[in-house]
Amino acid sequence: MPDMDGFREATNFGIGQASQCSDFHVKGASNLSWGMKDRLSRIFNPKTGKAVLLAFDHGFIMGPTSGLERIDLNIVPLVQYADCLMCTRGILQSSIPANVNKPICLRSDAGTTILTELNRNVLIDVEDAIRYNASAMAVMFAAGDGEQEAITAANLTEAVDLGNRYGIPVMGVTAVGKQMARDARYFALASRVCAETGASIVKTYYCEGFEKVVAACPVPIVIAGGKKLPEKEAIELCYKAVNDGAAGVDMGRNVFQSENPTAMIQAVHAVVHEGLTPEQGMEMFNDLSK
Ligand code: 5RP
Repeated sequence: MPDMDGFREATNFGIGQASQCSDFHVKGASNLSWGMKDRLSRIFNPKTGKAVLLAFDHGFIMGPTSGLERIDLNIVPLVQYADCLMCTRGILQSSIPANVNKPICLRSDAGTTILTELNRNVLIDVEDAIRYNASAMAVMFAAGDGEQEAITAANLTEAVDLGNRYGIPVMGVTAVGKQMARDARYFALASRVCAETGASIVKTYYCEGFEKVVAACPVPIVIAGGKKLPEKEAIELCYKAVNDGAAGVDMGRNVFQSENPTAMIQAVHAVVHEGLTPEQGMEMFNDLSK
């Protein structure tokens, strides 16, 4: 029992002041559980509401792609500049030191490689995601793919069910169906379906009319970078996405395949969190590259 000696009477009840239940800084998350919000707050900075996720999960379908040959040499030095790491459990366990203290968006499905058409997609065990202390689980949704749409929708649904049980948010990763035009109508549909399925974060691609994709999606959208672009274009892409309402980026190749990945991730971070213009972002990249 606490010692009652010196007990001070409570007096400061703020009578007459409305209870301060400030809105949560992550879109669509106000009604989530405390654990979910805590995990989302590790990913999305409470001051800016934004996040820079470093994606290096490509190996699960592409193998050792350019820039990811040696995770210890290519990725570990960048980790300090990322808000969250998106990777598979195999790379996390084998190559990322557990004391980097970064939230993990764990790639939680596995599918066929680039050697074949996508024809199978399975979920990892949610208990394993818990063992890795995942702050989110990333699962693909292949909208418009005749073979895979239903399977990936079922996987996403199951991941959300499991995530809800344990308080782990799910990121719906929109895979681009081969037959579908990569336009706002398609990305709006794919993103919205992810959110309707219960995803708390959606990862999709920037496109013309992106503001409509964001407006129609009730949870935060982060953009993938896509194939490697010249640094100037990649920085412009980040700027335009955030300007049109993205809550950040989940970027891979445009960082780890950059001429200077360390400078690139810092410039991207400043564009996302500090609102640097593309020119300022490029200036930062050039200064850091000297
Ligand atoms: C692969 C992914 C990647 O993480 C995603 O495409 C982001 O990487 P990049 O910026 O290189 O496109 O989800 O399925």
